[in-house]
Amino acid sequence: MERRKKFNQTLFIDINDTEAVKDAAEKIRAGEVVAFPTETVYGLGANAFDTKAVDKIFEAKGRPGDNPLICHIWNKDQIEELTSEVTPAARKLIDSFMPGPITVIMRKSDKVPSNVTAGLDTVGVRMPSSPAAAKFLELCGVPVAAPSANLSGSPSPTRAMHVMDDMYGYIYAVIDGGDSDFGLESTVVDCTGDAPVILRPGAVTADAILKVTGYECSTGKLAEGETPKAPGMKYRHYAPNANVEIINLPDKTEITGDELDGEDHYEIPEIDLEALSDEEKQKVFDIAAPFIFRVKSILAESPVMRIGIFCGAETEAAFKKLNDKIMLSHLEFFTYGRSTDVSAASHFLFEGLRDLDIQDVGTILCQGFTGNGVSRAYMNRLGKAALKTGEVTAGMQPDKRRLRTSLPLYYFDETYTMSVLFVCDDNKCLSPACETFLRDLIWKEVPFVMADDRNTGVELYAESCGLTAMDNLQPDPGMVDAVKEISGKDMGGHKTLRADMSLFDANDLILTIRDEQAYDILNKFPELDGKVYSLSSYIASKGLVIKSSDGRTVGVSIPNPKGQNRATYVHTAKALKAWIELLFPYVLKDLGVKRI
Ligand code: TXA
Ligand code: MG
Repeated sequence: MERRKKFNQTLFIDINDTEAVKDAAEKIRAGEVVAFPTETVYGLGANAFDTKAVDKIFEAKGRPGDNPLICHIWNKDQIEELTSEVTPAARKLIDSFMPGPITVIMRKSDKVPSNVTAGLDTVGVRMPSSPAAAKFLELCGVPVAAPSANLSGSPSPTRAMHVMDDMYGYIYAVIDGGDSDFGLESTVVDCTGDAPVILRPGAVTADAILKVTGYECSTGKLAEGETPKAPGMKYRHYAPNANVEIINLPDKTEITGDELDGEDHYEIPEIDLEALSDEEKQKVFDIAAPFIFRVKSILAESPVMRIGIFCGAETEAAFKKLNDKIMLSHLEFFTYGRSTDVSAASHFLFEGLRDLDIQDVGTILCQGFTGNGVSRAYMNRLGKAALKTGEVTAGMQPDKRRLRTSLPLYYFDETYTMSVLFVCDDNKCLSPACETFLRDLIWKEVPFVMADDRNTGVELYAESCGLTAMDNLQPDPGMVDAVKEISGKDMGGHKTLRADMSLFDANDLILTIRDEQAYDILNKFPELDGKVYSLSSYIASKGLVIKSSDGRTVGVSIPNPKGQNRATYVHTAKALKAWIELLFPYVLKDLGVKRI
């Protein structure tokens, strides 16, 4: 089904704003789609008894019509109107695990429209335990059909902002109830027969089900050529744009959090490797070593590859301890907690995949786990993200970041400004072109936050000046035309500016077009050391070795187009644009800034 924007904006509602939540519930009854929080992931809800409203879910999500939705309730009495049979196994699971992260598949009643169940004669019922979900569902007063609130094929949303990223303009509202507790979707259990069958592992583990029902649950793995029991299994899932690779724990590593213990695992510990005993240090390096080897081998092959690492705090500390500046400049970390804590990894998995994808890394290395409880659910999702196989559905966007520019303004606790200054001699041609290209990138990628604090927003600026420039002159018309031709951007309004100490002071990173200009500045102002680079020395400091098609290393050579023909201007502008685009993520990293 084609995905079309239907709203100029999507309301962002705080769960504590009861009037607004009531309005959203009213809209559910009136046939609209509203996303809401649960303890697993956010759901994309509509009145389960309203066929047209349910169609809107499939449309907003880009979900194929043959993948059924589950029905969310807040009161067990609602099960009766949704189902025609509750088997003894189903009864036991309902009594023991609801409300909670489980979906029980039963025979459906006639009241459930066939688009909810994708034509199947069974229906999934789930009663979330999160108070926010219960509050909203009770106000709705009807069972709410809801898949996870992501675009079909991408990682499920565990924060309201993830839903905004995927659904802005496509649905009426998103209710913000904070981060999802568990972070992976519910266990789906088929209870239509005697023995329950786990169709999708989750927080309610096979062990827990065995204890309650006495049945050793089989997991509904697909044999070659078999029709999937959970129809969603044939589609691509959880896949970020980047490639995902799983890095396993060393054999016999003891893990924690494999059975849920109701504890929060969200504090990221500070790791001081020096304070650890030799034995503990060894364990940290045993877990980190396969990550480090893999990073080295990827970079040996592709020196411009940027790599995301979804790992424990100890592994990040081990990387930093190596103090390999070039290697570190290529890495983006998303740390979930202690390396061996699978609950923490589960809580953050989808957020981590989304975050690293937004940083535009090519590959994401993720910590694998070997346990039999929560680990099963975690590895199930991670395995699918890594495989990247399965049918791509209508919802998949080749470039999700384009959607992000449609986001409303973010409200930050605080906002910093950061800026980059380009320097050449006369500030008429090369440096203003760089300024224009960087500004364009910034504009495309807003908003930004501090890498170590996503509540602090960052406004990024680009400026340019010339060491020997006169003030207030027009830019070189040849370059104005070339920039316009290759980027559509108009730098005609630029006025030349002479470099001085206050400009250097006010900027956080200074990039000169030629090596001599950086030497000049540093000669005069040695205190700027560490902040001033020529483009070529900056590129070299990141280990960015660019190879031409015949395998030769290509250096940075920026011609001087002045007085030359149009083709030379265009060639120069293209080269500058390519360099600025390549450097942009490294610049962000040096400024301590990331995209959100
Ligand atoms: O935790 C969750 O379950 C979240 C939150 C929002 O409740 N919901 C969720 O929904 O993950 P969804 O649609 O993304 O995944 C539900 C899975 C799909 O793989 C679907 O194919 C399967 O459950 N499913 C739903 N109804 C089914 C049925 N009648 N028979 C077999 N599989 C079913
Ligand atoms: Mg889903």
